[in-house]
Amino acid sequence: MSNAKRNIFVTTALPYANGAFHFGHILEYIQADIWVRHERMCGNNVHFVCADDAHGAPIMIAASKQGVTPQEFVAKISAGRQQYLDNFYINFDHWHCTESPENTELSQDIYRRLKDAGLIYTTDIEQFYDEEVGMFLADRFIKGTCPKCGAPDQYGDSCEKCSSVYSPTDLINPYSAISGSVPVLKTSTHYFFRLSDPRAQAFLKDWTMGNGADGKPRVQAEVLAKDNEWLDGNLADWDISRDAPYFGIEIPDAPGKYFYVWLDAPIGYLASFKAYCAKKGLDFVQELSRPNTEQIHFIGKDIIYFHTLFWPAMLHFAGTPYRVPDHVNVHGFMTVNGQKMSKSIGNVVDPFVLGERYGADAIRYHILREMALGADSSFSNEIMINRINSDLANGFGNLVSRTVAMVIKYFDGTLPAEKTAGEFDDDLIAQATALTEKVDDFMDKTQLQNALAEIFKVVSRANKYIDETAPWVLAKDEANKPRLAAVLYNLLETIRITSSLLSAFMPTVMPEVWEQIG
Ligand code: MSP
Ligand code: ZN
Repeated sequence: MSNAKRNIFVTTALPYANGAFHFGHILEYIQADIWVRHERMCGNNVHFVCADDAHGAPIMIAASKQGVTPQEFVAKISAGRQQYLDNFYINFDHWHCTESPENTELSQDIYRRLKDAGLIYTTDIEQFYDEEVGMFLADRFIKGTCPKCGAPDQYGDSCEKCSSVYSPTDLINPYSAISGSVPVLKTSTHYFFRLSDPRAQAFLKDWTMGNGADGKPRVQAEVLAKDNEWLDGNLADWDISRDAPYFGIEIPDAPGKYFYVWLDAPIGYLASFKAYCAKKGLDFVQELSRPNTEQIHFIGKDIIYFHTLFWPAMLHFAGTPYRVPDHVNVHGFMTVNGQKMSKSIGNVVDPFVLGERYGADAIRYHILREMALGADSSFSNEIMINRINSDLANGFGNLVSRTVAMVIKYFDGTLPAEKTAGEFDDDLIAQATALTEKVDDFMDKTQLQNALAEIFKVVSRANKYIDETAPWVLAKDEANKPRLAAVLYNLLETIRITSSLLSAFMPTVMPEVWEQIG
């Protein structure tokens, strides 16, 4: 990176406000939080925001089942968020909600601009309608018998038994999952975003293959490959409207029509940033449109389509002050002992329980060590405990405790700065001094796992250095005192460098280390 200060606006995916966080959410926030802490340590200006994703039919229906308004339902979920974040030292600058005046204003503004650009049109479509509750049914609220294998009670879009994909009208004996009644087909006007427009195709080809402001590819190679597949198959237009009753944002000049939740959800990033700017006395438009502002999203692999196709296209064709994302950083899925985490299997890892048991830093460390950005990874208590014991306790913990003990024992806790280069010194010093740059470089590429591995290479090197130089042997002869001091000095210097780089990963343990090494 050049020395110019970066001005970065960072987000993580907005969780659906229909339940407490699970480990997949926390994992994403930890990755982003570590990256943000590191960039701040490098002197960059970072705004880090998130929000609850409040809208959509599932939340509306869940609320009505509880006999509360969707707003009340969402507020209750929102109220539980902060304690989880605090538990893992995840420091968002602001947490907002897509059900907010900022999001309404921005969504309607972006929509109007897309319409002015000639990218919105309407068309009539036929859909299943539940006459008993008076609403159109989203695919997941229609059930019936699979047309392929005959399995009963399958969802409207795909069969869980034979995995075949179909449309709801193909189902045998369809019924409404809400009322149980037999739905009827009904026509209604829907609004579409013309993604098939040659301008959109051309723009997206360009955006997906391009670089962010830092000169690095906007998306990872695997993500680009997926995007290319979609783009080469030509994008279908996107149905962005839903009929009342719907919990969402009204489409301007279209009575009874609401934006589909995925239209307003990413705009929630901007709504959160706007509310944050107001809180901080910053000018939202000015902040967003600074020439050096970078917009960076962290997301999971299941929502690539929305973030690397729909979202950049929306922003690009809406025009200034909106800007296209510089990077969309995609992580894989966390499984549990190799199995998908799911409520029905009953293996959902509650981050709260885990945090209580092992402490935030150990979990932050483990997640980063095991989860490369991009790949899936399996969680198991066993792997985690082994990692903590071998790397943290035996590796780093040992280095610190041995060094500190020797400084106390041989020098009463204060060490004269000695720089005499002896045998083994050059290698350790060279590795330790080169480390910061290497880590910065990996962090710039959001390769957090590689950054961490690099730090631990130096930790191992330093432990080996203790064995090589055998300070306890040096201590037997007073004439070796300067050499002993130099050895311990080199160790302390290595701890200083590694611990400050580790502090983004483990924000609670490292300050304790600094206290110990004075
Ligand atoms: N509300 C949408 C996102 C809107 S962003 C404008 C959504 N919500 S979600 O709650 O289902 O997921 C939020 C994030 O958590 C996503 O990035 C998703 O990939 C991530 N994860 C959900 N389960 C996960 C795992 N088991 N493992 C890793 N990440 C997971 O999608
Ligand atoms: Zn089937």
